[in-house]
Amino acid sequence: MKYIKSNNSRLEIGSIEESSFNEVLITKYKSVKKVIIVDDNTHVNCLEYLLTTFELLKESEIVVLPHGELNKELVIVNNVWEALTEYGITRHDLIINLGGGMITDIGGFIASCYKRGVDYINIPTSLLGMVDASIGGKTGINLGEFKNQIGVFSHPEVVYIDIAFLSTLPSIELLSGYAEMLKHALISDEKLFDTLVAQLKGKEEFTEEILLTCIGVKNDIVLEDPMEKGLRKILNLGHTIGHVIEGHFMNGKKMTHGHCVAIGIVMESYVSMKMGLLDQKSYEKIQESILSFYEMPSYSNDEINEMVIMLSNDKKNRQGKILCALLTSIGACKYDQQVSEDMFVEVFLHFKNLQVNLN
Ligand SMILES: NC(=O)c1ccc[n+]([C@@H]2O[C@H](COP(=O)([O-])OP(=O)(O)OC[C@H]3O[C@@H](n4cnc5c(N)ncnc54)[C@H](O)[C@@H]3O)[C@@H](O)[C@H]2O)c1
Repeated sequence: MKYIKSNNSRLEIGSIEESSFNEVLITKYKSVKKVIIVDDNTHVNCLEYLLTTFELLKESEIVVLPHGELNKELVIVNNVWEALTEYGITRHDLIINLGGGMITDIGGFIASCYKRGVDYINIPTSLLGMVDASIGGKTGINLGEFKNQIGVFSHPEVVYIDIAFLSTLPSIELLSGYAEMLKHALISDEKLFDTLVAQLKGKEEFTEEILLTCIGVKNDIVLEDPMEKGLRKILNLGHTIGHVIEGHFMNGKKMTHGHCVAIGIVMESYVSMKMGLLDQKSYEKIQESILSFYEMPSYSNDEINEMVIMLSNDKKNRQGKILCALLTSIGACKYDQQVSEDMFVEVFLHFKNLQVNLN
């Protein structure tokens, strides 16, 4: 079992049966009501193991949400708050979020606002949830096509990361998680990036150690800047464009969060090169590595206009300026880099044409 100190919570990485989970349930939450929030997939694939392994969870109320990004929204939150009221949940009870990033984001938000805050524990079941979404204290929901517009910083009591849950995760979701790991590598360490690419190519095996390294990258940054006043913004690499792509395609093409982030990383690396921050060789390495695993979506000129309008609503913008985290090399990143709308139009057009040439 590996232990990492995070902001106001603890991360434990290893078999959940050997973790402190049972002990925590006994010492802190023995006689309180417990609610487990799952989606319909983790309900089928992950819940039974938890219920049969931990005696104290047997009487838990189970809240099953429909899976998918489209359901990370206020109506669902409202329904769950009403259910919690019906179950008589008080602020002394416990919520357990068992699922991917959608569940830990929405579940954390539900818990942190209900009666001004109920304790919650995250048990991420997707790679993306383990390496990114369940840690760092960001919770929230989407507002229409705008990603994570409503939310709060709030910390789970503990995060239990057990890679055994990955055994039922579809491969497309595994690839989605790799995108955030690639991001962690690109902002910190070129060797880590090379290792991850080798894993994606099947030349090296996925290991708990690599997961731990990637979690460490995020955790160290969050410890230094928990409220995203400065340094933490580098974790948004690929997310300015990634979120717009995800929001834009939310109702149509099914693209995972990680897929959108991967495309965002390539496009924003192109911006870095165009702005003279990143050398061409590094850019080409990033593009070649990432686009061999993540397909570039196709879009029309009208869609480019729509996406550029969406960019002007990004949470990171200040005084009408679009601000991005941009790479200066593979392994180093600068935040608060101002990028013009014209540059984004140029980038979208470049990749639209590249897509046409590739086909
Ligand atoms: N809070 C943060 O800091 C942060 C960081 C990164 C991403 N996010 C958010 O995380 C979300 C993406 O996370 P995600 O990719 O985990 O999405 P997700 O929770 O939607 O999970 C992806 C799919 O995998 C299924 N699934 C999860 N675990 C499974 C398992 N063990 N077996 C079978 N199926 C399983 C889910 O039901 C879902 O269909 C987005 O909403 C994104 O905005 C948040």
